[in-house]
Order: sequence, then C-alpha cells, then structure tokens
Amino acid sequence: MKVLIVGSGGREHALAWACAGSSRVHEVLVAPGNAGTDGEPSVRNVAIAADDLAALVRLAQRERPALTIIGPEAPLVAGITDAFGAAGLRCFGPDKACARLEGSKAFAKAFLERHAIPTAAYRCFTRDSYDGAWVRAQRPPIVVKASGLAAGKGVIIATSAAEADATARAMLGGRFGEAGAQVVIEEFLPGEEASFIVLADGEQALPLASSQDHKRLLDGDQGPNTGGMGAYSPAPVLTEALHTRVMREIVTPTLSGLLHEGTPYTGFLYVGLMIGPDGAPRVLEFNCRLGDPEAQPLLMRLRSDLTELCEAALEHRLERAQAQWDPSSALGVVIAAPGYPDSPQLGQAIEGLEAAAKLPGKVFHAGTRHAQQRVLTSGGRVLCAVGCGAGVRAAQRQAYALVERIRFPGMQYRGDIGQRALAREAASQAQAQE
Ligand code: AMP
Ligand code: GLY
Repeated sequence: MKVLIVGSGGREHALAWACAGSSRVHEVLVAPGNAGTDGEPSVRNVAIAADDLAALVRLAQRERPALTIIGPEAPLVAGITDAFGAAGLRCFGPDKACARLEGSKAFAKAFLERHAIPTAAYRCFTRDSYDGAWVRAQRPPIVVKASGLAAGKGVIIATSAAEADATARAMLGGRFGEAGAQVVIEEFLPGEEASFIVLADGEQALPLASSQDHKRLLDGDQGPNTGGMGAYSPAPVLTEALHTRVMREIVTPTLSGLLHEGTPYTGFLYVGLMIGPDGAPRVLEFNCRLGDPEAQPLLMRLRSDLTELCEAALEHRLERAQAQWDPSSALGVVIAAPGYPDSPQLGQAIEGLEAAAKLPGKVFHAGTRHAQQRVLTSGGRVLCAVGCGAGVRAAQRQAYALVERIRFPGMQYRGDIGQRALAREAASQAQAQE
C-alpha cells in the first residue's frame, strides 16, 4: 500500500520511517517533508505545504494512498479530514469539530467542565466580557492562555495579578492575532507533567506507551517554554494505577462525551496531564495529534504495524487491537537552532549526520532541507537524536553519543533529558534497598 504523511517536522519523519518499515507499505509520500524524510528508503517528498488543503486533496486524488496520516494540528483544525472525507478519501485524524479540543482552549475547557473531567478551575473572556477586577483579585501564580493556536507560545504563567491582567489585555488587544480573541485564565496546578496519548476510533481508545516531554528550553526546566526539547518513553511517573485512573477519569469520559455530543473522535488524542502532589491526574490541554518530540521515542519502541493500528481505528476495530512495545526505553534529545524559540537563525550547514548514522539509535530530522549536497537548518527545532537501551540511563547515553557527532554554529540542546525518570528510578531503587 501507499501511505501519505502530511507535515514536515520530527514527528512526521518518525511517522514516515515507521510506515516505511511496514511490510505492507511500498511507498510513503510526505508533504512537504524535510531532508530526513527525503533520505529514507521508499519515502518521497512532495512539495506541498501542510496547510494547503486543496492541493493535498488533489495529491491524494492523484496518488490514491490507502492511508493518510496528518502530523500537525493546523491542517486538522482547518478541517483537512472533512475535506478528504468530502472527496471520498481516507484520512487519519480528527475532523474539524473534534480538533476544536486543541484549536480552541475555550471550547476544551467548557467541554471538560460539561463532563466533569478534572482540570484547573478557569474563566474565559473576550474583549467585551473581560473582567480585570476579577483577574487582579486572583492569587498568583495565574495562568493566562490565548484560546487559539499559538505554536506553543500562547501560555504565560504570571507571577503577579498585575502581570496576569497586563498579559490578558495584551492578548485580547491582538498580541497573538485571532488566537488571542478569547483568553482562558486558570488556576496554576503544581505537580509533574506527563503526556498520555491514545489512538481513538470514535468510541474506544487504545493507549500508546507513556511518555514525558521537556517543555522548557534550558537544563533544570529553566528558560522559556518551547515546542519540546526532548522526550522519553516509558515515563515511570505513569504507574499502572495512574494509567487506570487516567483512562477511567479522563480518556473514557472524553471519548464518550464527544460521542454523545454527536462528534465522535477518530485519530491520535494527546492529553497533556498534570499529576498533582496528591497523585491526581488533571488535564492541562488536549492536542489532536501525536506529540512532537514524544512521537520520536514512542515510534522507536512500537513493534506493531502503525498502518494496521490506524486502519483499525478508522474501521472502529480498536476494541480488539493491541499495540506491542519494545520493553526497552527510548529517549530523544532535540537539537535546536540558535535563537530558538523566539527568533531562530536558519540556513546553517549541519555537520556529522553521516557519522551519526553509523551509530546505534536514530537521528530524526525536523527543520532541515537539502541544498547543494548539504543539509541546512530550516526551522527552530532541527533534529531529534533518539537512543534506546535497557533503562533510561542506557537510552540517554546512546542519544547523547549521537548528539556529540552533530555540529552547526550555535546549536542548542539540553544536557539533562531524562533527569526526572532517572531521579524516580534512583528513588525507587533506594526504597527497595531499605
Ligand atoms: P498548554 O499549551 O495549555 O499545555 O500549556 C503549555 C504549558 O504551560 C504546559 O505544558 C505547562 O507546562 C504549563 N501550564 C499550562 N497550564 C498550566 C496550569 N494550569 N498550571 C500549571 N502549568 C500550566
Ligand atoms: N511536545 C508537546 C506537543 O507536541 O505539543
């Protein structure tokens, strides 16, 4: 079969690589892809942007892929699944109505409230309904979010009520364009974050392995928020008991809520969780797609055929489906351009990719392109080096051995990806010895 992947990041490289590894697949098209997808056997890039819905429909009509998987949120929120469906084409990803869970935080919060799914207490405002006095009366830290898509930059954790008020006013005044036309102001939740991603078929959910992202730019979770600087799977914070709770208290009511509202959800559903000091999971956000960089370590561990799982979801057969995972750990370290996340400098030549390719593990590309026989940086997040091993420490070692081979001026990466898992492992070992 032929598969089409839409997108150009590290997640899409991992999706294309996983699909190309299937014995059922003879060709994978990636629109538009990057230098990494371009170099994979049986993978072909097609120069169509991920947000050009009409051109993507025409491509699928021409090439007739048996399966299309949408990587990023923007085309899902814009309704690519509906556009494919209208043309009689099969596309894996939620439709426009369901993608509002990510495209509108105001919608997601109201949905969570309607279905009594645990999340931070909040209020939502437009420019007309804004209540500055209420905001200034809240106790900091106060979380201020632009409701619409803002490429991971639309969340500010204000350390004073005055800052929260000023931030909300700036958002409503147009700082994030349309995305800030509504703002969500919510209670700060302390705890540890985890990513809980499932495949959904409209009714049933098949949970993927657990994973954890590192959102901040710098070591020790310092610096600004980014799209994600590294991730690993499994995440020891997600114990079996917690997994059961997340399914019962969050995933099942979310899917049945959507079903009962007449908008059944098919596709990857990413629940960003905060695990409180009381051990209770609460929803921080929904994403209507796989996480990036979570997808890279997750797909390195997936032993089942991804195309079969996606087809099972599209055909409402997930109840009987199972996903097999490599028992080892996988850990991905993101290498970003200088100036990322605010103003990344692009166009630099990347050295060492060939040397890295000879080592165990895998370097997934994100913001890269080919030019005159070289690979140049072309996006804020450039590469994600993924290592595997028996345990987080071994996976970490393999990932950083890859990172050490790679060079371009001003490259940034965190040196502590996996730290939380290692600390947890050490604590449980110490406990076992007591
Ligand atoms: P979001 O896009 O809503 O996931 O927010 C981005 C990041 O902001 C999250 O990954 C958290 O690190 C942080 N964040 C969002 N909401 C909250 C909250 N209510 N309490 C604490 N941190 C939050
Ligand atoms: N890694 C977080 C995200 O994909 O949104």
